[in-house]
Amino acid sequence: MADVVVANDLTAAVRLPSGNRLSILRDVSFRVREGTSAAILGRSGSGKSTLLAILGLMNRPDGGELTIAGTDVSNLRDREAARLRNSLVGFVFQNYSLIEHLTVRENVELPFSFGPSPRPREMRRAVERALDLVAMTSFAARKPAQLSGGEQQRVAIARALVRHPRLILADEPTGALDVDTGHHVMSVLRDATVGSGSGLVIVTHDPAIADSTESQWHLLDGALRPHHSAPTPGGLR
Ligand SMILES: Nc1ncnc2c1ncn2[C@@H]1O[C@H](COP(=O)(O)OP(=O)(O)OP(=O)(O)O)[C@@H](O)[C@H]1O
Ligand SMILES: [Mg+2]
Repeated sequence: MADVVVANDLTAAVRLPSGNRLSILRDVSFRVREGTSAAILGRSGSGKSTLLAILGLMNRPDGGELTIAGTDVSNLRDREAARLRNSLVGFVFQNYSLIEHLTVRENVELPFSFGPSPRPREMRRAVERALDLVAMTSFAARKPAQLSGGEQQRVAIARALVRHPRLILADEPTGALDVDTGHHVMSVLRDATVGSGSGLVIVTHDPAIADSTESQWHLLDGALRPHHSAPTPGGLR
């Protein structure tokens, strides 16, 4: 089985206004195989969103090598990064990032305005299917401001899935959802990856969500290590 993500010794740093260099990711290495999912856990500020932005070709790493779906993306020019991002990656942002003046349907159509588009009929079908997957069909004509946080999150997931990306990146996609809806959304994300040979990387604080993925990682101050779940309370097995 091929890898969707191969990350070797990725580093990220920012230059602070004081002139000092702040290291955010330190030698991060991991792989995600086709048809599998990986969870990234870690406390606030540990670098999870920074790592997803690099995997999603929105930021370049300062060092290390990154291959996405067989293409070395470590040193891409902006235009090439944008092209690959649109064709390979579906991103569910931590703050949803829906466009306020567009309807739910138009938000989900948005990924088709970048890069080559299918015929209108195929596009409509893909949008209907994505809305249906997250049970948002009846909300299609609303604007994001007329939705609850959890409903906005489900629209963001439909938008990420609509072009059948090879890599789905989701930053706390169940954070605003009740337990049942969260598990439903997680099964939608897993079906979209495991079922199609794509890869899923999900940032989560929910141990049950993390347990449903094939590999679990823990970010601590920018360093990534395999995550070992805490022993089950109430006794040893
Ligand atoms: N452009 C920037 N300039 C300075 N510091 C930054 C910048 N971007 C991120 N940071 C810092 O890098 C660290 C990691 O940020 P990041 O957003 O990746 O954390 P996170 O793990 O996603 O946290 P959360 O769980 O709160 O979303 C934080 O301490 C943040 O303040
Ligand atoms: Mg974050």
